[in-house]
Amino acid sequence: MPLKQNQESILDLYQTQELRMAELYTAFARRFSMDREFWQRMAREERLHARIVSSLKTAAAKGVLLFDPGRVDTHDIAAMTARIETLMHQGAQEVMDRVMALSHAMEIESSLVESGVFTQFKALTDKAREVLRRLNNESLDHAAWVRRVLDSDATFPDAPLQAGGHLIWTESLSVNDSRLDDQHRLLFALINDLADLRLSGAPRETLLKVVQRMIAFSDAHFGSEDDVMIASDFPRFDAHRLEHQLFLGQIRRFLNDYSAGREQLSDEILAFLKRWWFHHTAQSDRQYALWILEHGRQA
Ligand SMILES: [Fe+2]
Ligand SMILES: [Fe+2]
Ligand SMILES: [Fe+2]
Repeated sequence: MPLKQNQESILDLYQTQELRMAELYTAFARRFSMDREFWQRMAREERLHARIVSSLKTAAAKGVLLFDPGRVDTHDIAAMTARIETLMHQGAQEVMDRVMALSHAMEIESSLVESGVFTQFKALTDKAREVLRRLNNESLDHAAWVRRVLDSDATFPDAPLQAGGHLIWTESLSVNDSRLDDQHRLLFALINDLADLRLSGAPRETLLKVVQRMIAFSDAHFGSEDDVMIASDFPRFDAHRLEHQLFLGQIRRFLNDYSAGREQLSDEILAFLKRWWFHHTAQSDRQYALWILEHGRQA
C-alpha cells in the first residue's frame, strides 16, 4: 500500500477508536447517574481526540508525511476497537456494575498508553509530534482520573459507622487544623441529619434544603482547603481539587434530578456520601495534613 494511503487508513482506525471510546463513556454516563458528570467529561475529551486525529488525516491527505507507518500494528488498533465495542454492549446491560465500568475504563486508557499507541508513531512534523504527545498525555490523565474515582469510594469498604448508621468523626481523621476539622465534623453531621430525616419520613422539601446546605458547606470547605494547600505549596493540589470538583459535579447533578423528582434519596446515595467523605478525609485530606506537618506553611 502506498505510504500516504497507509497513513490515512491507520489514522482512520485511530479516529474510530476515539469515537468508540466517546460512545462507551456516553453509555456509562446514561447508566451511572452518580458519575454522570465524570463520564460526560471523559466522552467530550474523546470526541475532541477524534477531531484532533481527523486534523492529522487532513494533513495526510495533502501528502504531508506525518509518521513512519512501519512501526504501527494495525491489528492492535482494530483489536482494541473491537474490545471497546464489546464493552459497549455489556455496558448497556445490567451485567455491568459501576465498579466494573470504572475498572474497564481504566484498563482501556492505561493499555492505550502502555501499548505505546501514540508513541509508536515516529512523528515527522512538529504538529504531528505535538498531537501525539497530547493524545498520549491525556490518555494517561484519563487513567489517573478513573483511578481516583475508583479509589475515592468504590474499591474501599463502607465507612465505619456508629450504631444508627451515623458517620463518626474521630481524632484519627484530624488534619491538624481546628477550623478544617470543625468543617469536617459539620459536614459529617449534615450527612447524618440527612439519613435521619429520610428515616423519619421528612418531606422532600426538608431533605432538599439539607442537601443544598451540604453542597454550600462543601463548596466553602473546599475553598478553605484550597487556601491551605496553596499556602503550603502542596504538590498534589491539582489532583486534590479535581476530586473536589468531581464530587460537587456528582452531587449537584443529583440535586437537580432530585428537585425535578427524577431521583430518590436512596440508600445508595447516602452510602456514597458517607463513603466519599470518610475516605476523602481519611486519605486525600490526610496527604496535605502530612505534607504541612513536614514542610510547614508559608503564611
Ligand atoms: Fe482519547
Ligand atoms: Fe476536607
Ligand atoms: Fe479535600
